[in-house]
Amino acid sequence: MRHFLRDDDVTSDEQRQILARGLALKADRFVEKPFAGPHTVAVVFDKSSTRTRVSFATGIADLGGSPLVIDASGSQMGRGEPIADTARVLSSMCSMIVWRTFGQERIDEMARYSAVPVVNALTDQFHPCQILADLLTVAEVKGGLAQSGPALAGRSFAYLGDGANNMSQSYLLGCALAGMDVRIGCPESLSPDPEVVQAAEQIAATTGGRVSVTHSAQEAVEGVDVVATDTWASMGNEEAGHAAEPILAPYRVTAELMALGKDAVFMHCLPAYREHEVTSEVIDGPASVVWREAENRLHAQKGLMAWLMDPQQHDQAPRD
Ligand code: CP
Ligand code: NVA
Repeated sequence: MRHFLRDDDVTSDEQRQILARGLALKADRFVEKPFAGPHTVAVVFDKSSTRTRVSFATGIADLGGSPLVIDASGSQMGRGEPIADTARVLSSMCSMIVWRTFGQERIDEMARYSAVPVVNALTDQFHPCQILADLLTVAEVKGGLAQSGPALAGRSFAYLGDGANNMSQSYLLGCALAGMDVRIGCPESLSPDPEVVQAAEQIAATTGGRVSVTHSAQEAVEGVDVVATDTWASMGNEEAGHAAEPILAPYRVTAELMALGKDAVFMHCLPAYREHEVTSEVIDGPASVVWREAENRLHAQKGLMAWLMDPQQHDQAPRD
């Protein structure tokens, strides 16, 4: 049994298989039914969500299952029931647990005590399902679709903004796995965790990818295929995010920065705050692929769930 708690819980080949499966399910939406029965999948939220909630609920139903969407505040977890006890109970009845929570150690603990696969639907440190959707989008819009799956190797991807947040850290791991040139442009005080950078560098050394962290927005976007950003105030970190606005301002994605890319497209996981991390001109302009990116959450996560439910496909877990 495999979990998906961070981007490098799959190998580069497995990431390609998952994305290929997502693309096949996008082409023929109801072709796979791994949850036929229907099996129930618990989708639990400790934080707000629109896209993750809707894409998992829809995707589980498309795959023949029954989604059980739980807000932790309305469950016993919100009153302090231990994660281990919750894992034992949920996994005795459900076939998968999808969880959006705070610290990564919480989802690690859920996985430790769960008898079924656990999927990270965002933690403070990583947002790996979003990166699957983003890679699928890059493959579609940059023409990197091969028969064996998306051909992303060699594509360049710049992320500007809060380099220490979940999106930045997941881009480092997920893009390195795909063999891409991933660049983080951020203030020095909001740099990614050095351990994540090191893990990404080690992955890149095996996939032919490249990893860099710079404090110059211009240097990060020079000649890139994709420019991405995210909110400056992540959930649970709003106060510090707002206080950091002055040092983040040079990383706002503007038309001038986009023009430094190579026919670059603009991506954002959403929700977006116009005139903060990105101008309206860019996010609502012709280079923006954010709506396709949001829809691809559905298809990429269906590829992931179908793969997790198909144990013959699994190699050895890379982090076991
Ligand atoms: N991008 C994303 O995860 O959106 P939600 O917070 O709406 O789920
Ligand atoms: N970094 C953002 C992503 C939202 C989808 C947050 O954690 O709030």
